[in-house]
Amino acid sequence: MPATAQRLSSFTESIIRDMTRVANHHGAINLSQGFPDDDPPPEVIAAAQKAMLEGPHQYAITWGAPNLRQALAEKQSRLMGRPIDADTDIVITCGSTEAMICAMMCTCDPGDKVIIFSPFYENYGADSILCGAEPIYVPLEPPEYSFDLKKLQEAFARKPKAIILCNPSNPSGKVFTLDELQIIAELACDNDCYVITDEVYEHIVYPPHSHHYMASLPGMFERTLSCSSLSKTYSMTGWRLGYIIAPAKITSGARQVHDFLTVGAAAPLQEAAVTALRLPASYYQQLTRSYTKRRDLFLGYLDEAGLSYTKPQGAYYVMVDFSGCGIEDDYAFCRWMAQHIGVAAVPGSSFFHEKVNHLVRFHFSKSEEILHECGKRLQKLPALL
Ligand SMILES: Cc1ncc(COP(=O)(O)O)c(C=O)c1O
Repeated sequence: MPATAQRLSSFTESIIRDMTRVANHHGAINLSQGFPDDDPPPEVIAAAQKAMLEGPHQYAITWGAPNLRQALAEKQSRLMGRPIDADTDIVITCGSTEAMICAMMCTCDPGDKVIIFSPFYENYGADSILCGAEPIYVPLEPPEYSFDLKKLQEAFARKPKAIILCNPSNPSGKVFTLDELQIIAELACDNDCYVITDEVYEHIVYPPHSHHYMASLPGMFERTLSCSSLSKTYSMTGWRLGYIIAPAKITSGARQVHDFLTVGAAAPLQEAAVTALRLPASYYQQLTRSYTKRRDLFLGYLDEAGLSYTKPQGAYYVMVDFSGCGIEDDYAFCRWMAQHIGVAAVPGSSFFHEKVNHLVRFHFSKSEEILHECGKRLQKLPALL
């Protein structure tokens, strides 16, 4: 038999799947894999039931059902503060996961360079491999996760084709300030570079922080591929609905890539998602309140356990520093935690390009009841170490 493709050798096994196995083996609460514990809003589920009964059941238009694009264009025009054209500026994809690879494939050729901030969401490395692009990693230094301007300038000097911007960021919980976005925007313009954003946590931002869209900055819509999804905002990670918003001359390429990759997202779910996108402002306010409460609850338990962390500004992850606990290695610490404390986390090093070995990531997108139980278990930590 011939060998399988060379590119596969660059992929590593998902650490999160590995940690999930460890968690299951020890009966630990799994705070490694980050998906919401909640169901989508009831009216959205009712809309899905209706769509299943009444259709559509056949292919939607490959770049998205017209009424879904219309609802998304209205919502994002409001939020981005500029007109988004439902006919030309949107590609509906199978989650932000597809949006990101599609955005990379329609901007980058093999050998092109792509700036990735480190720590980073694991898919960006894989996306680079799949489209043959070469990552240039720029560190976001813990515990503040801010970037060094000189290092960013040096990365841009290497003439990248695109920069990936995860905002709010998984795993660090960083929300880029307007000033930081302006710096990145200026460098992207000066170096004629695309910006590919991943904004799946755009509605999970903790006051006083606020989310700013790169595409809303002056002159940036033209060169930004804004990727996001409905997965986290409406607690529907299994529905696989996401999108790219960009000007027509970019979406025309993205529509082709998307068509050949997947043809399209599930037609009845696109229909039902219109109800989600038309939810009132109060839905998003409640989402923020609910996640803020869970964040504060979980951070309180980390305080009681004597663990230090970077307070998340957005998303639903927290990077915790375990140095001083007597275990030197983050994998060993995660395995020990799952076995002896009954709570599973992800080794921080799996998110970094640099050698960083004193952090683990927990997610707190769980019910308050489960977070209380985690909190109880975490209190055993000081006595056992
Ligand atoms: C930063 C980031 N982007 C994308 C995804 C996946 O999103 P989707 O379900 O829309 O593919 C995740 C999921 O954890 C994520 O954390």
